[in-house]
Amino acid sequence: MLTTRPRGTNDILPGEVEKWQFLQQLTGQVCREYGYGEIRTPIFEHTELFTRGVGETTDIVEKEMYTFTDRGDRSVTLRPEGTASTVRAYVENKLHALPQPLKFYYIGPMFRYDRPQAGRYRQFHQFGVEVFGSNDPAIDAEVIAMAMDIYQRIGLKKLELHLNSVGCPACRPVLRQKLQEYFKPHLENLCPNCQGRYERNPLRILDCKSEKCQEFGKDAPTTLDVLCPDCSSHFEAVKGYLDEVGISYTINNRLVRGLDYYTRTAFEIMTRDIGAQSSIGGGGRYNGLIEECGGPATPGIGFALGLERILLTAERQGIVFPVSRGPQVFIATVGSGVARKAFGLLQNLRQQGITAEQDYLDRSLKAQMKYAGKLAARFVIILGEEEFDRGVAVVRDMQAGEQQEVALGELVSFIKHKG
Ligand code: HAM
Repeated sequence: MLTTRPRGTNDILPGEVEKWQFLQQLTGQVCREYGYGEIRTPIFEHTELFTRGVGETTDIVEKEMYTFTDRGDRSVTLRPEGTASTVRAYVENKLHALPQPLKFYYIGPMFRYDRPQAGRYRQFHQFGVEVFGSNDPAIDAEVIAMAMDIYQRIGLKKLELHLNSVGCPACRPVLRQKLQEYFKPHLENLCPNCQGRYERNPLRILDCKSEKCQEFGKDAPTTLDVLCPDCSSHFEAVKGYLDEVGISYTINNRLVRGLDYYTRTAFEIMTRDIGAQSSIGGGGRYNGLIEECGGPATPGIGFALGLERILLTAERQGIVFPVSRGPQVFIATVGSGVARKAFGLLQNLRQQGITAEQDYLDRSLKAQMKYAGKLAARFVIILGEEEFDRGVAVVRDMQAGEQQEVALGELVSFIKHKG
């Protein structure tokens, strides 16, 4: 146990972590361009936030939450997603008093106790955005366009954007009744979970992973059959904006998403390159959630992208990420007499913005040169006692395979100029 990480978690090691840094930088840049500010909320929240926010009949709340009682006897849960926490922060900090809409983004770990497999983990990472305070269909189109923009800048190809409208509290009762009528003859054959969902939330049956339930749900009525005029015109307007910017989508009237808070627009981005876990991002509108969480009636919309799945898709599609480079300078020393001087030079170089490294294992000069090569250092500064006394050092350009003497006082400008 001591040397094994918990199932469904990952170590992100040097070599791999640069890809994560790249994604963080890229998403941060896109957020600046679209006017989204970062929000950081706690990794754990009161359990009630998620049971209420995400919904009692969802897989997440029914089977996947990391919930525990803390030492003060309170039930807390590691966040399974970021929307509920962002809503809680918005309400708690009275951000509705600020000019709306407010646009947030977050990036960080989420926790779901699911069966791990490629692309599905118990600790995974999401980049997400949330917009509060606008019901304008142009905002729906903006968040969708933003997600697609991010995938495009990463270089991902062959993605499918699935789009649906899941209606609002005005259309839901009609759908609920139609679904119950439809599923009634099959009730005994549905999985035990869905038998419970039949009364509490029959729409959830359409999202069940069991093959049997999927088969029975094949011809079930869908939200698009029952949209009220307001939801219908909202949906048309969203499609119009997407058409305007040339974003293609597939209308998928079976798309209900795995969380209960959605109203109107729901979308998911799929890839066929990572097997069963094909959703690399999803989101939608949630016009009732802020009120449900104790705030004033405020519309909201957002999405979250799964970073592990993005990286997996990128790998399968052969996308090469910028890799970390070796240090600009490696300082090799000859003789112990220059150790202190070398250390001083090392610090000086770093303080001048030059990435620099030295040997800490008392290697021979030959071994130091070999090590510098392994680190992929661009230059090696060879510091010997005799040269040092003359006020010079030998600088070897590892790329060109040439070396020359450079005055100690000129080293920084030499490296900056050549490197
Ligand atoms: P979600 O669809 O549950 O939505 O998750 C979003 C994305 O997170 C998925 O498309 C997937 O890429 C990734 N993901 C989910 N579960 C796992 C897992 N176990 N392992 C690896 N990746 C996973 C939400 O979480 C909503 N909060 C999105 C949203 C924001 N809706 C409105 N605003």
